[in-house]
Amino acid sequence: MTEETLRLILDRDATMTEHALRQYYTEDVDLKKLLDAERYSLFAGGKRIRPVLTLEFCRMFGGRDKAALPFACAVEMIHTYSLIHDDLPCMDNDDLRRGKPTNHKVYGEAVALLAGDALLTGAFEATATNTAVTAEIAVIATAYLASSAGRYGMIGGQMMDMEGEHRKLSPEELLKLHSLKTGALIGAACVLGALAAGISLQDGAMEKVVTYAEKIGLAFQIVDDILDRTGDEKTIGKRTGVDGEHGKNTFLSFYDVEEAQFYADRLTADAIDAIRAFPNSETLEAIAKWLAARKK
Ligand code: IPE
Ligand code: IPE
Ligand code: MG
Ligand code: MG
Ligand code: MG
Repeated sequence: MTEETLRLILDRDATMTEHALRQYYTEDVDLKKLLDAERYSLFAGGKRIRPVLTLEFCRMFGGRDKAALPFACAVEMIHTYSLIHDDLPCMDNDDLRRGKPTNHKVYGEAVALLAGDALLTGAFEATATNTAVTAEIAVIATAYLASSAGRYGMIGGQMMDMEGEHRKLSPEELLKLHSLKTGALIGAACVLGALAAGISLQDGAMEKVVTYAEKIGLAFQIVDDILDRTGDEKTIGKRTGVDGEHGKNTFLSFYDVEEAQFYADRLTADAIDAIRAFPNSETLEAIAKWLAARKK
């Protein structure tokens, strides 16, 4: 697949997702500040990689975009909420996100907290009210997303990240931390796409989806760690060098940049192997490669 073709697919999926996300908002003058705060972060121009994965897994298995879109929106809402809370002064205390001042810098901490809460709860409303799939699939997807985002998923990972500050984790602990804080939600994005196409959690095909997701999820956080060290602030839209300042455990606590990139590339190759046998897997293969080589 050429770079140009991949770019067109990524842009199309991002545009579809943004259009669908807007449908969840109706104006309410009394809630203007809350809605503005949510949309400030939601439409600040993220890469939309998670909704792209949801849409593309659904397509690969022959499902309809209409079935995947509410799930894609839900995952992006949870991701955006996690970024708003991750940036708060009590967490990573960052002031730049998606190329703009962080949510709490603009709206204040209390509003940022509530905007995150509203995005989180809105996500489950979106999955549960997905009428383009059966009620059973909607329930299964809602539960899968909840457990991926929750205590044994992303939040567990954020907790390990926080508790690991100024303490050196073992390589095993770091792998778990990364798999939870970033891998779990990326996993949900992929699995919900397959669910939208009617693939059940027990299906052998779903095992391959999960393997792909685990590998690219880990590779994604390794590259995030690398970009914190080597990235260009303007390009990535967030401050660089903050992991070191915060005494975070990252892949660069164990490897140099070249070794970490090698690790990410190897995971990417494993991810591609997991789905290669499916017809129409080219897009997801190209996405995995693009993520490993990304500069933002
Ligand atoms: C950043 O995610 C946070 C991590 C989990 C590493 P992204 O790199 O996907 O951020 P956006 O959505 O493009 O802003
Ligand atoms: C964040 O990890 C993962 C989340 C669940 C938000 P980071 O703290 O490394 O993400 P960035 O670098 O601030 O985007
Ligand atoms: Mg963090
Ligand atoms: Mg952070
Ligand atoms: Mg980071």
